[in-house]
Amino acid sequence: MKRTGYAGRSSPPGETMISVRPEESADQEAIRRVHVASFSTPAEARLVDLLRDAGHLSVSLVAVAGGVVVGHAAFSPVTAGTGPAGVGVAPVAVLREHRRRGIAGRLVERGIEDCRRAGFRWAVVLGDRNYYARFGFRAAAELGLLDEYGGGLSFQAMELVPRGLPVGAGLVRYAPAFASFSR
Ligand SMILES: CC(C)(COP(=O)(O)OP(=O)(O)OC[C@H]1O[C@@H](n2cnc3c(N)ncnc32)[C@H](O)[C@@H]1OP(=O)(O)O)[C@@H](O)C(=O)NCCC(=O)NCCS
Repeated sequence: MKRTGYAGRSSPPGETMISVRPEESADQEAIRRVHVASFSTPAEARLVDLLRDAGHLSVSLVAVAGGVVVGHAAFSPVTAGTGPAGVGVAPVAVLREHRRRGIAGRLVERGIEDCRRAGFRWAVVLGDRNYYARFGFRAAAELGLLDEYGGGLSFQAMELVPRGLPVGAGLVRYAPAFASFSR
């Protein structure tokens, strides 16, 4: 399994310590604020609320700096064919002033680990290829997996356990909340 080193990364001297932990109910408004500030519309913030309401936030992590939520990553179930559910990584956001310090990396790495522990066998993401390759993602099309959104090579997959990927299963379906997602 590819290791990225994010998990053990500590903040440089003089920088606020960042901790990553599961969301708590008191975090919900702060999570909304992170997404509204990070994307051009409130669609992602709404998506997170819909996923939570439907019981589909399988893993939901916040990054906290100085007691303030500065980042969030959501992981929700996906299906392909009749095999066991995988998990989709989305959305991920970090407040602008805290970016490029590895916070998203820590959220994604911890999230993948938590999903593996929760019994998920595979994961997908629609995102930048150079970025997600560091976690072990690769083009899903090479594995016979397609997305519903025409993501092309941005649609990537990885196994969370050996032989966990439903290779060749075709279309990967995200949770129903994604169907009402519009920007
Ligand atoms: C994408 C985002 C979450 C990255 O947060 P971050 O804490 O700065 O990420 P990290 O510090 O772990 O990684 C930063 C690095 O990855 C790159 N990167 C991370 N996500 C990326 C993405 N979606 N597209 C392109 N590059 C990305 C950055 O350019 C940077 O590159 P570098 O290491 O060569 O400098 C943040 O920029 C953000 O909130 N953007 C707006 C929301 C968004 O687009 N989310 C992703 C889609 S759900």
